[in-house]
Amino acid sequence: MKISVAIDGPAGAGKSTIAKLVGKKYNLMYINTGAMYRAVGLKAKENNLSPEKVDEICSMISNMEMHFENDDLILNGENIQERITTPEISSIVSNYASIPEVRSRLVKLQQDMSNKFDVVMDGRDIGTVVLKDAKFKFYVTASPEERASRRFKELQERNIECSYDQILKDIIDRDYIDSNRATDPLRKADDAIEIDTTNLNIDGVVNIITEYIRKGL
Ligand code: DC
Repeated sequence: MKISVAIDGPAGAGKSTIAKLVGKKYNLMYINTGAMYRAVGLKAKENNLSPEKVDEICSMISNMEMHFENDDLILNGENIQERITTPEISSIVSNYASIPEVRSRLVKLQQDMSNKFDVVMDGRDIGTVVLKDAKFKFYVTASPEERASRRFKELQERNIECSYDQILKDIIDRDYIDSNRATDPLRKADDAIEIDTTNLNIDGVVNIITEYIRKGL
């Protein structure tokens, strides 16, 4: 039986760490859809394509071969994971992720991956759009302050210069853009299980999710 697990939620809620662990447990390929939108932001920036240049961005995407290896995004043969997780890319990515033509192309790529492999996929529209029929759907959230302090710690550990206040502001701005865009905004699917992680550690969340999956299999 094919397994698809959808994990949605706002920026910094811990989705990717959780999805990786759930993937290891059930031998699922982890598809980080945020990384794919970030790759579009990175390449658009390198090519000086502002978000209004929709046609050029779409033809750029048709030359982007993306797949995942060991949870990292490989773009045209290059591991770009480090380059797409900088504050600079975080601050521009929502403007590209809100373009309907960009979304329809990336959704198609994500659906192709889920048709080929057993997947755990995280993002904003997985349970509502990409994997609408997934048997296992989760919506993971946490307060903006908790999410900002997690991101701040992670960037400090990577020696990336940043300020907590700026990260909190970026998270609040991104929540707004992601939740209010016209196409496929961030929202909980009606049939998703909601988990507030503000006062839970990662193992606690992974246990809740794996218990649901174990019971459902
Ligand atoms: O999860 P993340 O922070 O890496 O996501 C980067 C951006 O991409 C964020 O602004 C939301 C957007 N995104 C989206 O619109 N749909 C997805 N399925 C995944 C991410």
